[in-house]
Amino acid sequence: MDKIIIQGQAKLSGEVEISGAKNAVLPIMTATLLVNGVSKISQVPDLKDTRTMIKLLEIIGAKCDFINGNLKIDATSVDNPEAPYDLVKTMRASFYVLGPLLARFGYVKVSLPGGCAWGPRPVDYHLNALKKLGAKITLKSGYILAEAKRLKGANISFDFPSVGATGNIVMAAATALGITKISNAAKEPEIVQLCDYLNLMGANIKGIGTSKLVIEGVDLLKSADIKVIPDRIEAGTFLVAGALLGEITLKNVIPKHLDSMLSKLSDCGCDIASTETSITISPAKLLNPVDMTTDVYPGFATDLQAQWVALMTLAEGSSIITDNVYHDRFSHVPELNRFGANIKMKKNVALIRGVKELIGAPVMSTDIRASASLIVAGLAAKGETSVSRIYHIDRGYEKIEAKFRSLGANIMRKNT
Ligand code: EPZ
Repeated sequence: MDKIIIQGQAKLSGEVEISGAKNAVLPIMTATLLVNGVSKISQVPDLKDTRTMIKLLEIIGAKCDFINGNLKIDATSVDNPEAPYDLVKTMRASFYVLGPLLARFGYVKVSLPGGCAWGPRPVDYHLNALKKLGAKITLKSGYILAEAKRLKGANISFDFPSVGATGNIVMAAATALGITKISNAAKEPEIVQLCDYLNLMGANIKGIGTSKLVIEGVDLLKSADIKVIPDRIEAGTFLVAGALLGEITLKNVIPKHLDSMLSKLSDCGCDIASTETSITISPAKLLNPVDMTTDVYPGFATDLQAQWVALMTLAEGSSIITDNVYHDRFSHVPELNRFGANIKMKKNVALIRGVKELIGAPVMSTDIRASASLIVAGLAAKGETSVSRIYHIDRGYEKIEAKFRSLGANIMRKNT
């Protein structure tokens, strides 16, 4: 099992290039299953999750070529609309094949995704919406079987603006008969890009970027090419490192996607300068404590909550961090306390008292974003930190230790 070893408190400086967004490319990859043709996707990050999705698409019968960030998917010979448990259990996003395969083949068998490190992650919004579109849904030994000769447009309203459910339903509705209206749809940039991509393929989706989507089904879609948007969560992770360890510039970012975090970072006393495609951050002289509550976009992303907790452990005072999206997404807290942080949990609220210094320690990753928070804390801590189970970080960050090394960090990967 690989570990990441860090000698902490090295100053950071220079520029880092942000990769394409994991959470945009995964649904885009499944959308290619809707067409009998070849699709080309560029700026694809080389991650464990993108490689898992490629494996899944190939099991389903697509042909994939992935070289230097360019991914070609030929879905002409797709003939096996099934997503097996052993793949779906490693990556919940596999569930995104449900909508496109049902729309194209009228039948699909997808394993129910398990929970994850921080608790159950239901799919009831996906299934109830597909039923409204006319699908017959049965559950058989852990698999969802969905059938529908031709999906029919319907009015759908989500209790919560679920990213995954919005993605699955826009893909299913794109070729349904008639009009589908989704209220309380997700507005995350990754879902906006998925809708833009579907329209490039010939779909007719209106209201993109708002919580009300209107999809007029079309009979046929055609292949289209697209460049994946930059990863706002990777960018936010590097911004936290800059806030702690030195002035750095992020290239290939869309600052608007990080508005909520940028305003919190200036509340902390950091200097932020942005252009159309870059952000420069300089650390605060004294890091002010800033409370934060996660929310759906454009609120503060739950995927940046763990990184914010890490930052606040070194603030000059106390702060309160609440996760309203995932109430139990705090497996990073006991690990951060091993660095000498002072965090107490009350339900979905972290009560943090800033400390003068963190001391390096052996810690264990539990999920993608928790791992990122441990790496950032290790970079800021005095002495050596070793982060184990880093297969979690490799799911969602491309060459993370090389990128931090290029900024001056003393960080390396060790095969143990
Ligand atoms: C996406 O997951 C992201 N994953 C997650 O990022 C992210 O944390 C999450 O959205 C929230 O922003 C990808 O895009 C691949 P949801 P998703 O459906 O779609 C509840 C990362 O680190 N819910 O928006 O699974 C659910 O329990 C990952 O990159 C239902 O109750 O998230 C949660 O409380 C982790 N029933 C809330 O909605 C459903 O049918 C938000 O979930 C679906 C969701």
